[in-house]
Amino acid sequence: MLKGSKVGLRARHEDDIPVLQAELYDDVVTHSRAQASPWRPITPGSQESLVQVDDKAQGYVAFSVVELDGGALVGTATLWGIDTHNRMAHIGLGLRPSARGKGYGTDVVAVMCHYGFVVRGLHRLQIETLADNTAMLRSAERNGFVREGVLRSSAWVMGEWLDEVLLGLLAQDYKPEPQG
Ligand SMILES: CC(C)(COP(=O)(O)OP(=O)(O)OC[C@H]1O[C@@H](n2cnc3c(N)ncnc32)[C@H](O)[C@@H]1OP(=O)(O)O)[C@@H](O)C(=O)NCCC(=O)NCCS
Repeated sequence: MLKGSKVGLRARHEDDIPVLQAELYDDVVTHSRAQASPWRPITPGSQESLVQVDDKAQGYVAFSVVELDGGALVGTATLWGIDTHNRMAHIGLGLRPSARGKGYGTDVVAVMCHYGFVVRGLHRLQIETLADNTAMLRSAERNGFVREGVLRSSAWVMGEWLDEVLLGLLAQDYKPEPQG
């Protein structure tokens, strides 16, 4: 397990799946704001579920996020679009509603930076989020990500076009917090 100051990142366990499916995927608004693909109902247990993990896939790594204190499941974190030539990847995260606003998101980004830069030897990490997602923008900026641009009207979200912000962090600018 990878440890931050408040959260741990571990493998996806079977009993995480129904919880994440119900609280993240099946929440149409949360899904529509966080994913580029349109929401549609997914049959329980289906391999099409976005919260299922394929351990053999090379292009992404999915973690379940747990509280260090007690081990309760609080959400997901994914390193996706891993490009081993340009040594870059994207970070995505989603926390259960009850776990938001407690500093966990900021800590998850810190742990994902450790995984991307130290464990995987990447050169660049990238985050894309809706321009009105203050909590995601702050979680990234607190960890040194800088805003590199605005993708105007790039996301179709629940009936309207929204802007996305592209944030990046280079390995040379990474200033790690001590890892537990
Ligand atoms: C986005 C998300 C991962 C952020 O994690 P979080 O644990 O809620 O964020 P934190 O508690 O670490 O807060 C980070 C900062 O945002 C601020 N913040 C938190 N929730 C906020 C809210 N609802 N509105 C405005 N600011 C907020 C905090 O005050 C903190 O600011 P600071 O750094 O200036 O002190 C989480 O809210 C979430 O899962 N949201 C739903 C899914 C989602 O949007 N995923 C990202 C898709 S790209």
